[in-house]
Amino acid sequence: MDIRVIRASDIPHVQTANITNLPENYFCKYYLYHAQSWPQLSYVAVDVSRPPKSPYDPPKIVGYVLAKMEEDPADGIQHGHITSLSVMRTHRRLGLAEKLMRQSQRAMAETFGAHYVSLHVRVSNMAALKLYRDTLGFEVEKTESKYYADGEDAFSMRMDLSGLRQSMIDEDASDEDEGEPVGSMGKKDGGAAKSEADAKEKKRKVKVGRSLGVGELVEKNESQKA
Ligand code: ACO
Repeated sequence: MDIRVIRASDIPHVQTANITNLPENYFCKYYLYHAQSWPQLSYVAVDVSRPPKSPYDPPKIVGYVLAKMEEDPADGIQHGHITSLSVMRTHRRLGLAEKLMRQSQRAMAETFGAHYVSLHVRVSNMAALKLYRDTLGFEVEKTESKYYADGEDAFSMRMDLSGLRQSMIDEDASDEDEGEPVGSMGKKDGGAAKSEADAKEKKRKVKVGRSLGVGELVEKNESQKA
């Protein structure tokens, strides 16, 4: 299974997955708007167990997360929002939804400095509620009455991303590459020997042009021979 950022060409397949799994559906242009405005935030899960037979075979998309940054946050705090998430029945309970969500949340914090992520979920959707609350750590902020078109209430949930932001800062600090020693430090313990070796490396001869057989590939004017 491959989890990667959504591409414009995935959109019809993501739309099919959405229509199959959820009653909340969107026009193609709404997916495109997400993909173009916040290209780092939406992901697809692609089943790569059977390689495509031809380059024209569509990818087998078995799950997706469609996410965005809130454009005009009422609380003035920069945050992300999960617009839609689903995984095909055939591929559920494999941890795909969790991975898609974590990937998107990370990108929200890393790329856009999101402080938290929000979403809405039907109060009857036990599978999604377990995923959000127990696995990922979302909390119910409030219940929104008759949020859905069929009159069902929604839980408005959110998850704080400050822990994630801090762990990314710590990761960056520990990954810092100090590079090769320079100046007088670099000259100690064989700095000169190293630069001599580098110079030798640069002088290595390589075959080019006809000696590589390129001449055979050059188009010839056969008419002049006749
Ligand atoms: N029953 C109970 N707990 C569940 C269930 C379930 N059916 N599905 C997932 N969970 C919980 C479990 O704790 C699970 O961990 P475990 O398998 O180790 O016990 C954890 O969530 C992670 O599960 P994943 O395998 O990552 O979830 P999956 O890939 O199966 O997808 C999803 C879950 C997205 C809810 C899927 O069931 C689905 O597509 N449902 C229909 C569409 C839907 O409801 N989408 C969410 C709407 S809300 C919105 O879009 C913002």
